[in-house]
Amino acid sequence: MNDRPIGVFDSGIGGLTVLKEIFRDLPGENTVYLGDTARVPYGIRSAETVTRYSFENAGFLVAEGIKLLVVACNTASAVSLDAIKEKVSIPVIGVIDPGAKGAVMATRNKRVGVIGTEATVNSKAYSRIIKAMDNTIEVFSLPCPLFVPLAEEGLTDDEVATLVAGRYLGNLKDRGIDTLVLGCTHYPLLKGVISKVMGHGIVLIDSAIETVREIKKALREYGIEGNHPDEGTASPLRRFYVTDATDRFIKVGERFLGQKIEHIEKINVGGN
Ligand code: DGL
Repeated sequence: MNDRPIGVFDSGIGGLTVLKEIFRDLPGENTVYLGDTARVPYGIRSAETVTRYSFENAGFLVAEGIKLLVVACNTASAVSLDAIKEKVSIPVIGVIDPGAKGAVMATRNKRVGVIGTEATVNSKAYSRIIKAMDNTIEVFSLPCPLFVPLAEEGLTDDEVATLVAGRYLGNLKDRGIDTLVLGCTHYPLLKGVISKVMGHGIVLIDSAIETVREIKKALREYGIEGNHPDEGTASPLRRFYVTDATDRFIKVGERFLGQKIEHIEKINVGGN
């Protein structure tokens, strides 16, 4: 039994969609979440800048004594996962591999769509990994930047969201894909409207759900599983750090997470 926390970082609030799945599937694990809210968004920045931010976030969490690092941000996973793995000596899980694997398993007609931030799409990380697993699959990628503010404003299932989704996804729909990867932390909140626009035959791959499977596997493989809730232990410690004011993070984050955010502190990472 290893009760050191799992560390999770994201550019801001979005990684809470991954944390939510960790809480659901691994309820006994202690966790520490870092949202780099002072420097969000990452999705419009260069790979070099995102990698520097990611190193600083990873360094902060490692110093907190975490046993495993989850890079919950698609953008950070897309451009800096390998570099982070080289830097730290604990297991590191990103969100791209699990999402790509989910898509390869799901597609029947070998036509897969990927939506994400500009930086994620430009990195071609999803398409590279999908094609490495099955090079007969065709991948069609598209940035959908307006989905991020829509999710944060809670405009996830009204006519504005439907209009934006219709505008973005029309082209992808015409490509005849049967599987669509939600390659950004915020997009699972728009699942309803995305599936309405794409039609019900399309399988949506939620990277957050796929990632938790990988986390469970890694905890088992490295022999670092924490408490099982059935073992009658005290409730797990769930800490939050942000790099900017806590108010908005708590307000929006509780909606993303579906539960109260307590034990939160503002910190500085890399002189932000
Ligand atoms: N967390 C980012 C991602 O998953 C979205 C927000 C941002 O651009 O920082 O790509």
